[in-house]
Amino acid sequence: MQATISAVSHYLPDRVMTNAELEQIVDTSDEWIQSRTGILERRVVAKGEATSHMGIKSVEQILKKSSTSAREIDVIIVGTITPDMFFPSTAALVQDAIGATNAWAFDLNAACSGFIFSLGIGASLIESGKHKKVLVIGGDTMTSVLDYEDRATCVLFGDGAGAVLLEPTNDENGIVDSVMYTDGSGGNRLYMPAGGSRQPATLETVEQRLHYLKQDGREVYKSAVRGMADAAQALLERNNFSTKDVTLFIPHQANKRIIDASAERLGLSKEQVFINIDRAANTTAGTIPISLSEAVNEGRLLEGDLVVLAAFGAGFTWGATLVRWGKCV
Ligand code: ACO
Repeated sequence: MQATISAVSHYLPDRVMTNAELEQIVDTSDEWIQSRTGILERRVVAKGEATSHMGIKSVEQILKKSSTSAREIDVIIVGTITPDMFFPSTAALVQDAIGATNAWAFDLNAACSGFIFSLGIGASLIESGKHKKVLVIGGDTMTSVLDYEDRATCVLFGDGAGAVLLEPTNDENGIVDSVMYTDGSGGNRLYMPAGGSRQPATLETVEQRLHYLKQDGREVYKSAVRGMADAAQALLERNNFSTKDVTLFIPHQANKRIIDASAERLGLSKEQVFINIDRAANTTAGTIPISLSEAVNEGRLLEGDLVVLAAFGAGFTWGATLVRWGKCV
């Protein structure tokens, strides 16, 4: 038995933040942001809106589209690094809000690989035969951890979430295989120093701006290209496929140049690669489910298509998932 993605949806907040708006906040330019990242605009949550709200909106759509009752859901997994609170988990908040009273729920922290890792766990729970309906959400409110005095990071990210419903299938379509990796020695290349048990919040940590995302952009860039391309290649080879067999490659949307370089390393054509970073920027765990949902809406995924998802993020974490696309609403 394997797991298949039977429904997909996403939510992007209404508010659009353009590069022109960022020009008013930090010393940057639309030209720099577009040429270095491919980003034109990003979405930002409304005041009081958080990761759970975006997850709930995505999941409500899924339940509606697939005519599923929330009480039928067995498990809810939320991949995120920007939970509403440290605890309870964002997954528990979603479970309560949608009335999934029979589901157990937990968050998974793997940064930009959060959706790939959560999907892998979700698929295993289905394959075990013990669960029939698993909701996997990936989403982040990145604007809550951005330093709008640091032009090298604040221009890169946006807010958004997406979700899929996993169910068992006996036909050949579904989640074929996945690879997942971690290299903790990259931990200090992309991190948020304070707010955890090592440096709990104090006036000093706030004054020192330690509750914001910090990164070594160049190192992350190089590792991301290598990580996503090599994971996808390893996965395809392990399943006796080549890149020619791939209908759509959906990479984590971190930077258009990272996507282009990964696609080139894999020998993929432009038509095989899904890109929405121009409109949504980097929503961390949200990029892949949002892209999947948009690809379905645009009619770019049909039954039988071979799809490769790939991500790289803080940890370092990275991985890829191979999907033979099935019936999906
Ligand atoms: N506007 C104008 N100038 C800028 C900006 C900005 N927003 N940001 C940086 N600069 C300047 C720098 O200060 C530097 O100036 P200097 O030469 O006078 O010192 C110059 O631009 C070049 O800086 P670099 O860091 O070398 O620029 P680079 O071409 O490497 O691009 C970038 C920077 C876009 C951050 C790139 O390294 C990158 O995308 N890295 C990946 C980071 C990433 O995606 N992280 C997301 C999380 S992980 C993930 O999702 C995979």
